[in-house]
Amino acid sequence: MDCRKRTLARAWLCAPVLLALALFGCAKSGPSAPDAARGKQIYAENCATCHGATGREGGTGPSLTGEHKYKNFAAAVSWIEHPEAPMPALYPDPLDQREVEDVAAFVETL
Ligand code: HEC
Repeated sequence: MDCRKRTLARAWLCAPVLLALALFGCAKSGPSAPDAARGKQIYAENCATCHGATGREGGTGPSLTGEHKYKNFAAAVSWIEHPEAPMPALYPDPLDQREVEDVAAFVETL
């Protein structure tokens, strides 16, 4: 086997591995990525009574406008899971981990 043939054979061996990695990458970022649109709905049902209809006007709780400047996504998730009083803990009931991530993604857009 000369050198060029061997390189070609190796390239063919690589192709399925790369394809598998590409597919795995897509599958990973697809369904598990936080969904801000879904978060908006979760917000309306669980948070709007205190933070206002859109989150920008506030109410019992502060306006969440520009919240992303104070808390990044991870910090927002962590706050919603373990808020300071008087904000009530809504995790793990009625919101599960996924719903907390979605609503945090929505808060980050305000
Ligand atoms: C019963 C009223 C109430 C509900 C319901 C509520 N909050 Fe709050 N929230 C508060 C109050 C009051 C504060 C301020 C607490 C403090 O500063 O110690 C707060 C603070 C926050 C903060 C931090 C604001 C800052 O100062 O950085 C975030 C983010 C937040 N709420 C998001 C949410 C989200 C998302 C939901 C729905 C899943 C929610 N809250 C539901 C009352 C509420």
